[in-house]
Amino acid sequence: MYKINVAVLFGGCSEEHTVSIKSAMELAANMDTEKYQPFYIGITKSGIWKLCEKPCLDWERYAKYSVVFSPGRNTHGLLIQKDAGYETQLIDVVFPMIHGKFGEDGSIQGLLELSGIPYVGCDIQSSVICMDKSLAYTTVKNAGIEVPDFQIIQDGDSPETERFGFPLFVKPARSGSSFGVNKVEKAEDLCAAINEARQYDRKVLIEQAVSGSEVGCAVLGTGTDLIVGEIDQISLKHGFFKIHQEAQPEKGSENATIQVPADLPAEVRKRIQETAKKIFQVLGCRGLARIDLFLREDGQIVLNEVNTMPGFTSYSRYPRMMTAAGFTLSELIDRLIELALRR
Ligand SMILES: Nc1ncnc2c1ncn2[C@@H]1O[C@H](COP(=O)(O)OP(=O)(O)O)[C@@H](O)[C@H]1O
Ligand SMILES: [Mg+2]
Repeated sequence: MYKINVAVLFGGCSEEHTVSIKSAMELAANMDTEKYQPFYIGITKSGIWKLCEKPCLDWERYAKYSVVFSPGRNTHGLLIQKDAGYETQLIDVVFPMIHGKFGEDGSIQGLLELSGIPYVGCDIQSSVICMDKSLAYTTVKNAGIEVPDFQIIQDGDSPETERFGFPLFVKPARSGSSFGVNKVEKAEDLCAAINEARQYDRKVLIEQAVSGSEVGCAVLGTGTDLIVGEIDQISLKHGFFKIHQEAQPEKGSENATIQVPADLPAEVRKRIQETAKKIFQVLGCRGLARIDLFLREDGQIVLNEVNTMPGFTSYSRYPRMMTAAGFTLSELIDRLIELALRR
């Protein structure tokens, strides 16, 4: 039987490098090797692409060959650099398991569009919009769904703190895994929070704090043909959700617990799922996305953010929500690859 050649990309130059490796490890452990021939490509933090045997935290030790996807359509695959020159390897589909900058922001999608190789997940345009929280808010608000009030702070802009009150949130417009995010309780701390967010992105957002709880919805599919996972819900003891900043997220979080399925009435869960599907469609997503929302105390659903390549680590929310709805990780991988090839 012909095996589908799948190139799995992981690592990358962003602050989410390690999260991406952990996601790729789960992918590798659950990919059916009777059906697929995987090619694992690790990208170092400095942006070097290497073919390696499997994703693991010290994958660079086992990576032998430099490798590239040509942006031209000559090869439909990889150019593997070996002693005398390049060897080519046909690739049927790419699974870009890279989070954040250069993974979810449309850049890798651009390369793959040029190369003509099908890939899992959102296209350039929806990746760009979802990666920039201000663009996602504007698009989603335009469709009649509530979003937090926010202000964009670029060089020289003054924060309109009276508009938001305290606490407020400061974050990079385009980052992830809570890097550079701060809950600011008083005016004196605002400047430091903006400077911290700026380390990740020149474009910084100030947001009104939304009170209530955080809920998530995993969406898979394309157009109106969408499946959703069970809703999850985060309970916070204090502060805000930042599991990826913790020392041992595999063992749980210091301030947060995630319950899936959420302990909410069926009507509320359904409403969250329908809102998530609508957001997925409005943003032009395809393949997969995790829609993170706030459920306000008055029952109103408010957008938090959309992750177009959500984490697949052992403790990640997307696979857990889908598993709770009856889809194993292997089934998810099958469906995602099928969707990518159908395009
Ligand atoms: N406007 C807000 N109101 C309340 N909590 C927020 C707000 N923005 C962010 N948070 C908290 O900070 C966490 C991380 O922020 P988020 O916008 O999701 O950034 P990231 O892309 O890094 O995950 C959220 O999960 C939530 O706990
Ligand atoms: Mg988030």
